[in-house]
Amino acid sequence: MIFVAGASGTIGKLLCNVLNSLNEEFRAFGRSQPESYFDIGNNQWRSGNFDNYESLVQAMDGCDSVFLTCSPGNQMAEHEINVIKVAQELGVKKLVKVSVPNASRIGRTKLQRLHSLSEEFLQQSGLNWSILRPNAFMQNLHGDTQGFNINRKFCLPLEGAEYAFIDALDIAHVAASLITSEGPQNKVFNLTGPDLLTYREVAEIITHISGNKYSFNNITDDEYTEIMKKTGVDTWFIDEILEWFREFRDLNVGNVTSDVKNVLGRAPNNIKHYITKNLSIFS
Ligand SMILES: NC(=O)c1ccc[n+]([C@@H]2O[C@H](COP(=O)([O-])OP(=O)(O)OC[C@H]3O[C@@H](n4cnc5c(N)ncnc54)[C@H](OP(=O)(O)O)[C@@H]3O)[C@@H](O)[C@H]2O)c1
Repeated sequence: MIFVAGASGTIGKLLCNVLNSLNEEFRAFGRSQPESYFDIGNNQWRSGNFDNYESLVQAMDGCDSVFLTCSPGNQMAEHEINVIKVAQELGVKKLVKVSVPNASRIGRTKLQRLHSLSEEFLQQSGLNWSILRPNAFMQNLHGDTQGFNINRKFCLPLEGAEYAFIDALDIAHVAASLITSEGPQNKVFNLTGPDLLTYREVAEIITHISGNKYSFNNITDDEYTEIMKKTGVDTWFIDEILEWFREFRDLNVGNVTSDVKNVLGRAPNNIKHYITKNLSIFS
């Protein structure tokens, strides 16, 4: 039985759909069950909180492998370490955790430093572990903080930044493959899409496929902060996104890898595929 922690999130929902289509038995865990585009079939939903140890023990009992993802935030490492501790206590054999590129105690972003704490805890836990470090999700292109605005403009401080965007569905497929396969991994997987692209190039591709004019407008960090504050994004997260923008502008995150292909035996989805498949979002 697989325990999916963070099942209501971007990757978690996709993973549940993939596991369901593979007829794998799983238990989906999150604070509350999402209502839409989520198919857990005959599997069970369990509500709880990563900061509530007992709720985790009750929900995870009987599971032998765990998928773990948690939303970005100050308490993320604490929450993830709680999940790993419960997995240890219950004799879980395998845990697949989502992390970030270049996670490190001396990383330039807070999330790199926080993820390094839960990565290290996992690596020393005695569990069979896999760590997924994905590049930016293609889903961000239509999200609240790194997507286009009502004028179909990407207004972001990202001149020259290069992204190896990955479809979160491919992350879910890699997680499903690792969690259902036999044998130890104990490996870090750097997951990327197949191309390095600037936001300007992405806007051109969307324009070409959708027939609607999309564009990229470079702005300053301060202008970006003002826009995000007006939409109600909290300052912790704005600062964190700005740290990542700097990483991408400095070309520290951009390399394309073959890790998706090595696990799945096929190339990762490219941006054209993603836009075509989700055309209604870009129309
Ligand atoms: N977005 C990117 O481009 C990108 C790139 C690389 C790495 N990452 C990493 O990917 C991870 C995020 O994955 P995602 O986008 O799938 O996450 P997400 O959409 O933010 O979902 C996170 C999941 O964790 C659950 N969760 C959060 N706090 C919880 C708590 N206290 N108790 C129980 N459940 C809790 C959420 O439940 P609720 O529904 O109740 O909130 C949700 O199910 C982060 O570690 C991030 O650093 C993201």
